[in-house]
Amino acid sequence: MKIHARACYTYVYEKRGLIMISIAIMGFGVVGSGVAETIMMNAESFSERLGGEKINVKYILDLRDFPDHPLGGRVVHDIETILSDDEVSVVVETMGGINPAYGFSKSALERGKSVVTSNKEVVAAHGAELMALAEKNGVAYMFEASVGGGIPIIRPMRKCLAANKIISVSGILNGTCNYILTRMERDKLDFDTALKQAQKLGYAERDPSADIEGKDTCRKISILASLAYGKTVPTEKILCEGISDITYNDLVYARENGFAIKLLGRAKKCADGRISVLTAPHLVPDDNSLAGVNDVYNGISVVGNIVGDVLFCGRGAGSLPTASAVVADVLDVIDNCKVRASWKDADNTDFIRDVSEDVTSSYIRTNSSKESIGKAFGSVDITEKNGEKMFITPEYLESDLEVVLSLLDGKYTRIRLMK
Ligand code: HSE
Repeated sequence: MKIHARACYTYVYEKRGLIMISIAIMGFGVVGSGVAETIMMNAESFSERLGGEKINVKYILDLRDFPDHPLGGRVVHDIETILSDDEVSVVVETMGGINPAYGFSKSALERGKSVVTSNKEVVAAHGAELMALAEKNGVAYMFEASVGGGIPIIRPMRKCLAANKIISVSGILNGTCNYILTRMERDKLDFDTALKQAQKLGYAERDPSADIEGKDTCRKISILASLAYGKTVPTEKILCEGISDITYNDLVYARENGFAIKLLGRAKKCADGRISVLTAPHLVPDDNSLAGVNDVYNGISVVGNIVGDVLFCGRGAGSLPTASAVVADVLDVIDNCKVRASWKDADNTDFIRDVSEDVTSSYIRTNSSKESIGKAFGSVDITEKNGEKMFITPEYLESDLEVVLSLLDGKYTRIRLMK
């Protein structure tokens, strides 16, 4: 018996016990295979939760074959096989990258199938459009796994914090960078050696640029900011700095002065109603909970006007932690069927304040002369190590700081202080 996908959930509720809930997994890499493993491992408890129904992974879409995998027989190579099968009500997209994941997701939604994704690139770039499409077709587009891996953050922000206006979101959103910074400090390593270790352990990709240059964090804070403020915050409007300039001596100076250095994605509501969003390394005060989030862990601090601050912490990457979030979305979709769009594309980006209007203190490491430091910053407390000078500046308007920094007669590295 064929059931139209859009009617499938109703049918499930009416005829409990008669049908399987068929899903397809697109992309059988680290996360996709973790989704299959999770569904096989916890099949019984899912079935209890779903009133006796079973989740059936009917298809796995990948370019490769997996003859030795227990679900190897379900592999297909043509998306049309999934799209044309009305029994498939949920499609899990764990492909990564914009194409073809974006097009496949769009087609699945248009054909009345809910889509659950871990793909932060697609969500950051096309989230509003895909959520609207899902709404139009009476299905859902879910993306809990796109930020923070296994940490619940999207659903808590969408639902549990719904009573709040979000004042700010600050997060350690990239496990690879957090691991590198932790190893540098604890094992007295330079950046390149720590990166190599991360690659050896499989935390960092062979091409680590998206992680270490901050692009991955940027996509994730774009998603959180869009969710928090209801409009798409394009990644192109977000200042993006990475961690490759950070040295062991920076971490030592920070520690000696009561800070940890963390790559943060930050979004906050400004007094004038606009929002400010950036990705950059920060000196995080030791008494801030994020300073204690180490290794591959992610931590996200959300401040709401009613609840105050809430910290989410856990494994932000990896096969099973990410699969945990994907499968939770699958269960939610089966339970609820429809979810409203969380944000919309905006006509313009005037609601995003330029970082040049930020006011911050900064840590500076420079080989400039003491005279030029004095001329630029007046009297600051300078620490010298290996011929380099380190100090923390007073607060400056960002655009003023640029002018002051141009007075230095040497090279410098600058890291913001988290306020
Ligand atoms: N490369 C990412 C990280 C994977 O290290 O956090 C999870 O998005």
